[in-house]
Amino acid sequence: MSLDLRLFLLICTALFLANTSGATGHSPGTEASPLAEHMRLHFTAIRAIKSFVISGQLDGVYDPADWLQKHETTSDLPENWSPYVAEMRSYAEELKSARHLVFAAAALGQMARVCGDCHAANDVAVKFPDSDQRLPTGDSVRAQMRRHLWATDRMWEGLIGPSAAAWQAGSEVLAGIQLQASALGGPVDRQPTLDYLLKRLREIGQEGLEANTPGTRSALYGDFLSLCGDCHALTGRGPGPPRTVKK
Ligand code: HEC
Ligand code: HEC
Repeated sequence: MSLDLRLFLLICTALFLANTSGATGHSPGTEASPLAEHMRLHFTAIRAIKSFVISGQLDGVYDPADWLQKHETTSDLPENWSPYVAEMRSYAEELKSARHLVFAAAALGQMARVCGDCHAANDVAVKFPDSDQRLPTGDSVRAQMRRHLWATDRMWEGLIGPSAAAWQAGSEVLAGIQLQASALGGPVDRQPTLDYLLKRLREIGQEGLEANTPGTRSALYGDFLSLCGDCHALTGRGPGPPRTVKK
């Protein structure tokens, strides 16, 4: 492993540990083909990007996107690899030039779809270590946020796996969001914006229930992930390290 790569992984690991919880890594120690190892690196990088988008920290997406764009491919890629890898790199490029969360989230959603397209084309259905995690319960804002994250992660697995069942499960939870803006506190004049963000999340969950192509799903995913990040940036709260609040 090159020093660059090792450094990159070290930084990513440190960052996600501090970032969204609930996303455990692969199971180290299990035997894996070089391709499977390579895929785990992909997964580490793209998951870092996802965590940064959710927490509303655009700056964090650039390093892992740079890695995804430039990294060397492994020699045992399936024969049909070329268009997928080219597409993946082009979305990595978009991520690197994104100057707003909306664009980063859109490119991320597309990239996750490309992962899923190649898996489907090769009859691979990726299993995720935390996919059987129970839906968190409770009424506190935090508990509800953990449910949002649960939904987000199932939809994510739905795209990358790919898995229609995981996508469906996540959409259902998103469509059923109960949280009201008033529970979040903060300045009164900000409430309508918070209300709007929550309403959009519900709507997108509803649309997700009916979305049955990878293209429509990834577009929806991109749409809603930036809403999570927008609210966290706006309120200065949410997963990950403390941040400066947008004025
Ligand atoms: C060129 C086709 C292709 C692309 C693009 C691709 N994958 Fe894969 N992926 C595969 C194949 C084939 C396997 C099965 C490898 C094996 O089991 O040896 C796999 C397996 C995996 C695994 C399971 C590894 C393990 O531990 O068994 C993960 C996780 C994964 N891919 C994530 C991703 C992510 C995330 C992306 C996008 C950033 C991605 N893949 C893009 C072809 C692809
Ligand atoms: C309308 C604003 C708003 C939206 C939209 C929003 N969040 Fe949050 N989120 C918050 C606030 C405020 C907190 C801090 C809650 C606390 O610490 O009590 C938070 C905290 C979190 C946490 C940390 C929970 C913990 O364990 O401490 C996670 C994870 C999270 N949000 C995920 C999400 C995801 C995923 C989405 C999008 C599907 C989302 N949020 C959408 C406002 C929002």
